[in-house]
Amino acid sequence: MSSRNLTNIINERVSVVNYNKKQNVSEDKILQIIDAGRLAPSSVGLEYIRIIAVRNQELKNKLAKTGFLPSNSQKVIDCDTVLLFVSSKKENFLSKETLTKKLSQVFKGEELQHRVDGYFGFLNTIKDFDGFCESHAYLTSSFVGLEAENLGLGATWIGGFIPSEINNIIKEEKLAIDKFENTIFTMCIGEYDINQQPNKIKKRVAMKDFYKLVK
Ligand SMILES: Cc1cc2nc3c(=O)[nH]c(=O)nc-3n(C[C@H](O)[C@H](O)[C@H](O)COP(=O)(O)O)c2cc1C
Repeated sequence: MSSRNLTNIINERVSVVNYNKKQNVSEDKILQIIDAGRLAPSSVGLEYIRIIAVRNQELKNKLAKTGFLPSNSQKVIDCDTVLLFVSSKKENFLSKETLTKKLSQVFKGEELQHRVDGYFGFLNTIKDFDGFCESHAYLTSSFVGLEAENLGLGATWIGGFIPSEINNIIKEEKLAIDKFENTIFTMCIGEYDINQQPNKIKKRVAMKDFYKLVK
């Protein structure tokens, strides 16, 4: 188990290039990593992202074959778990019924009604709801990736996937809640191959070019 603090983890983390072909990761660890995503912040706390976590080798192979760019296929096959970050479409999410269902877990009575009306109005002002959900997927995946590192595993954020193919598969496999749910980001997590993982030097813009401190 890692004893690094968050600053060490942020400094030392690199994206996994090669995963260990023989993964030996406990389900508990995977659930802890996913839980970090659940605890990420979301706009007005409405939690727009759900995670489908695929550990089944046959299904990972199927996803790798058509759902990802060729350069990402091997990672999908070899990693322990492929995470699909899914979200709903605006037409489905943005109904008072859906909002009431979500919010009733926390609020009751007049407070619930007040929040449903308020959030309904707020969400209606969001022009690009898909983009709004995508930004939540990135945020959620950051929490996930850092927790994976914290538990001695590694992660790869994967934008190189083919949404239509992955969405066909999750619908075919009955993994999506309904026809409105779509994959908007993906990620691999697992043990990296220590023999093949290059000791990468972080390439980043210099701090002086990255920020301006206004005192
Ligand atoms: C939105 C996003 C999409 C990415 N897509 C891919 C991808 O498709 N395949 C891949 O191998 N890495 C992917 N990466 C990882 C980046 O290539 C990597 O983070 C970057 O080169 C910096 O390296 P580091 O993560 O090791 O610091 C992605 C990262 C982000 C944030």
